[in-house]
Formats: sequence, C-alpha cells, structure tokens
Amino acid sequence: MAVTRTFSIIKPDATRRNLTGAITKMLEDAGLRVVASRRIRMTRDQAEGFYAVHKERPFFNDLCTFMTSGPVVVQVLEGEDAVKRNREIMGATNPADAAEGTIRKTYAESIEANSVHGSDSDENAKIEIDYFIAPDENVG
Ligand code: CMP
Repeated sequence: MAVTRTFSIIKPDATRRNLTGAITKMLEDAGLRVVASRRIRMTRDQAEGFYAVHKERPFFNDLCTFMTSGPVVVQVLEGEDAVKRNREIMGATNPADAAEGTIRKTYAESIEANSVHGSDSDENAKIEIDYFIAPDENVG
C-alpha cells in the first residue's frame, strides 16, 4: 500500500469544544501523521469556493455560515492509503450513521456540525490541499 496524503479540517463545532487535540490524537492513533497544520478563521469566499461542488444543495448557505462561525484547523495527513484511512476513522457524514469508535460517532453534533472534513479521493485531496496549504507548509 502506498503512502499518500489527504486533506482534513477540524470544524468549528470541535474547536469550540476544545477538541483539536482529542481529534488529532484519534487521527494519529489511526496511523496518520500530521505533516501540515494551521488554525484559521475561514472567510466566506474561502468556504464558498471550497464547497463549490455543493452550491446547488439546499444546505450550502447554512454550511458556509457554519464553517465561518469559528476557527478551524486545516491539516494535511500522511499515511498508507491516507484518504481511505481518514474516512474510516472519521465515520459516516451523519453521526447517526457513524460506527462506534469513529470521530463523528464520538464527537459530532449533527450532519452539519460533524466535527471533521476529509477528502473523498486522491484527486480531490490534491485539489483541497492546494486550496488551503502552501507547499512550504508541508513540513513533514
Ligand atoms: P463535509 O465532509 O465537510 O462535506 C460537505 C458537508 O456538507 C458535509 O461534511 C456535511 O457537514 C454537510 N452536509 C452534507 N449533507 C448535509 C445535509 N443533508 N444537511 C446539512 N449539511 C450537510
């Protein structure tokens, strides 16, 4: 299995509850390494651009409002088959459907305030990393 990278966001519901460390530990315990990390306050433009694929969905406006409602932590995670591994440890988008032991089952408040985002493919991981992380921030 190849070592690859994925993009992760620790969302405002999690930073508000001081869960940055707890969630990062779950990612690390799952075999992922944080090779870049930055705490930011996402702008409306950044949120709308990042979630542009969802712009026709009924939840788009609320999602962008939520993602700009507090600080987030944007991260690059590295590990064997990182996209898949991260999605396993995150759990299903809706915490009601997430498996025991996953981040979303443990911490998410709702389908919107679901604590973490993770890329859904290697191709999107590259796009999402490039959207938020400068090459010299990937320090290993
Ligand atoms: P994320 O992985 O960040 O990608 C898109 C986000 O949209 C998703 O996590 C959810 O937080 C949110 N989302 C998806 N479906 C819904 C929905 N039906 N209602 C509200 N938010 C949703």
